[in-house]
Amino acid sequence: MNDVVGKLRELLGSGCITDPEVADAYLTDWRGLLRGRATCVLRPNSVELLAQCVRICREAGVGIVPQGGNTGLVGGATPNDSGFQAVISTASMRKIRSIDPVDMSVVAEAGATIADLQAATAEAGTLFPLSFASEGTATLGGALATNAGGISAVRYGSARDLLLGMEVVLPDGRIWNGLRTLRKDNAGYALKHLFSGSEGTLGIITAAAMKLAPQPRVCEVAFCALETEDQVLDLWMKLRAAADGNVRAIEYLSGSCVELAKRDGLRSPVQRANHYVLIELTSSRRDAGLREMLEEFLAGALEDGTIVDAALAQSGEQRKQMWRLREDQTEVQKRAGRDFKHDIAVPVARVPDLLRRCKAGIEAGFADAMVVPFGHVGDGNIHLNVVLPAAVGTEWAREQGKRIGELVYDIAISLGGTFSAEHGIGRAKIDLLEKHRDPVEIDLMRKIKGALDDSGLFNPDRVFSRPLG
Ligand code: FAD
Ligand code: MLT
Ligand code: ZN
Repeated sequence: MNDVVGKLRELLGSGCITDPEVADAYLTDWRGLLRGRATCVLRPNSVELLAQCVRICREAGVGIVPQGGNTGLVGGATPNDSGFQAVISTASMRKIRSIDPVDMSVVAEAGATIADLQAATAEAGTLFPLSFASEGTATLGGALATNAGGISAVRYGSARDLLLGMEVVLPDGRIWNGLRTLRKDNAGYALKHLFSGSEGTLGIITAAAMKLAPQPRVCEVAFCALETEDQVLDLWMKLRAAADGNVRAIEYLSGSCVELAKRDGLRSPVQRANHYVLIELTSSRRDAGLREMLEEFLAGALEDGTIVDAALAQSGEQRKQMWRLREDQTEVQKRAGRDFKHDIAVPVARVPDLLRRCKAGIEAGFADAMVVPFGHVGDGNIHLNVVLPAAVGTEWAREQGKRIGELVYDIAISLGGTFSAEHGIGRAKIDLLEKHRDPVEIDLMRKIKGALDDSGLFNPDRVFSRPLG
């Protein structure tokens, strides 16, 4: 082990971290639920150096855990506790290489944060469409590796939908340069799509070319109160028909989520209700008439009883406050006790059933549980989260969490849904993949993994558990 660390230190100098205090931040996941050990943490600052790190680790049989901003929610970027894994962080590879407003594309290194990309492309008069609450820290490489979705996926798609080209260091240490920005390129298999969503198990994404969109020039945000689950779906169907191309976000919050946020000092702009929906419309045309469109839409929805109250933001500050009720949920729920996350999706038409059945099942079976669902309702993606207050770290909480999970995932699957909508499998959902996915699908995934990573050193124990046969 000393030998391999010596070689890596010779290669990277201070970019090879062994000091436990400095390494600490790379060894714990964002939720504070997992803690691992690592041979060392590596921060190469070029693709060539990163490829050499991979070759040295491979020769020594040291596992590799790729890491971006370490904001993942399923434990994919945290090493296990064997001590025989090296974390390879992209934190020193953050350059935005080019922005092309004609081609509407950006090429950047994997460690660039989503917020960096948003800011740089906005300066060039364009929009980098991915957006989610961790965007200040989450990286391009991490977003692609997890195929992140977020709040504007309803309009622009998830990370994979925006992907044009990719550069990857493969498990054998070779560099694949597929950094093309073409819109059409049917020359053989679309390899880039294999790496997107592969959660660091097939290689390390070192750079990517992504699509841009026209920069929005007008933006309107409204917060609505509703009484029933069916009205949530009804509101979305009506909004889609009325404002289709202009909807950048339609986000759901249960009444319980807003009550939790209020406890943390946030204020709701509407009357208390069972359900809430946040709407954001944007357009790149100043004369799109979004405000009138939204006012008319909300007035109609109030009149026909789809909603019981609504507030239309009058300033940038009010827009921010409405968004905080939604975007702060992850933090608010983390502070409220042991938060069990269930990142699920169902066909949009089944969202009301999903919400009703999960709430009824959990409330009937688990006396102390707070059901706090929220999320990207336009995509049918609900974070059906459950908080057990004052139960952090107890065996009882773990057992309850397991049973709640079984209930939630079984309901989602029975409604034609999935147990992982946008966060991935990581370490947290390996058993669910084995339980719920078609064995043929799993077999194909394993064959791809075996073909690309024959030594099984890339992110071992993520996505799959058993050794590859
Ligand atoms: P990391 O956490 O570092 O890694 C995630 C996975 O990708 C790991 O398996 C890791 O090994 C792998 N990986 C990282 N970089 C690379 C690379 N360069 N090459 C290959 N593999 C790599 N996610 C959503 O989809 N939608 C949301 O709305 C959303 N909201 C969030 C809100 C909060 C407050 C938080 C904390 C998280 C949220 N997430 C959300 C989850 C998370 O932010 C995303 O999954 C994000 O894309 C992870 O990026 P990262 O750079 O932090 O990756
Ligand atoms: C979000 O949309 O805020 C996150 O993906 C959900 C979560 O933290 O559970
Ligand atoms: Zn989400």
